[in-house]
Amino acid sequence: PAEKIALKERIKRLLKEREAVLVAHYYVDADLQDLAEETGGCVSDSLEMARFGRDHAAKTLVVAGVRFMGETAKILSPEKRILMPDLDATCSLDLGCPADEFAAFCDAHPDRTVVVYANTSAAVKARADWMVTSSIGLDIVAHLHAQGKKILWAPDKHLGSYIQQRTGADMLLWQGSCLVHDEFKGVELDLLKAEYPNAKVLVHPESPANVVAHADMVGSTSQMIAAAVAMDADTFIVATDNGILHKMRAAAPGKRFIEAPTAGNSATCKSCAHCPWMAMNGLQNLAEVLENMGNEIHVEPQVGQLAVRSINRMLDFAA
Ligand code: 13P
Ligand code: SF4
Repeated sequence: PAEKIALKERIKRLLKEREAVLVAHYYVDADLQDLAEETGGCVSDSLEMARFGRDHAAKTLVVAGVRFMGETAKILSPEKRILMPDLDATCSLDLGCPADEFAAFCDAHPDRTVVVYANTSAAVKARADWMVTSSIGLDIVAHLHAQGKKILWAPDKHLGSYIQQRTGADMLLWQGSCLVHDEFKGVELDLLKAEYPNAKVLVHPESPANVVAHADMVGSTSQMIAAAVAMDADTFIVATDNGILHKMRAAAPGKRFIEAPTAGNSATCKSCAHCPWMAMNGLQNLAEVLENMGNEIHVEPQVGQLAVRSINRMLDFAA
């Protein structure tokens, strides 16, 4: 509709005027993903968002995603101004891992190398030896395990146990989970596979083990999209936030993508395969933050200086 087109044009004009760049995650509104691509920004997984934001020359980044993504951008580029459409867009993994309780957990296990998932607060990252994202967590833990290190892992128990099972590493797990991926159901997925025997199953590793068990491929959002393009199949069952389907369909036209089943009864499904915090990002609030240059992310410099070490370890490893 005309109103939406006008809003998008306004955002494009404001991005230019403010010399700002838009960095979006695959789970946000399709219009925001398209805008990011059309205006020289990026739409990607958490690792690529971090790298893109760090390397881009723009002095202002607008991060369309959830809070930890904005904080990571700020920690990597303290001199840049980081804005977000809604500062209340958080993540159940971040909420489920308060920094003080996490510090006590680390203090109780001083013999372990502390590896935390990107989906955590700056204060939790500051306490960690390594930060990892879903695309590289397995490789980093395998590397640490090969060096004989014992791991303390937080916060996602499903991703942690998947990595533990794949690497054989000694991992002590924090018991957090993502409220979106926790809803995917193994039994129902098995039934759906029987309906589509030729379909390949793509699974994000924040999903429970009995869902991962049905996967033909497990990986980050970017890796799932790449697999949808590369794998020789015409139908895919996708176990992650359904925001990803926009990019998957564009990247692999002609292929069919089906959402993996969540709770059998949608009335009992809390999130129904869409993150309520990612959904807080829209055209309207994006236009407003660019207009007002409001909703800026701040990270205490002392916290940022500690957290950047764990993030840079990952980025150096990935390079
Ligand atoms: P990716 O790094 O795979 O994009 O995952 C981020 C996330 O929040 C998944 O829920
Ligand atoms: Fe956090 Fe899950 Fe939302 Fe990703 S989908 S931001 S892990 S709550």
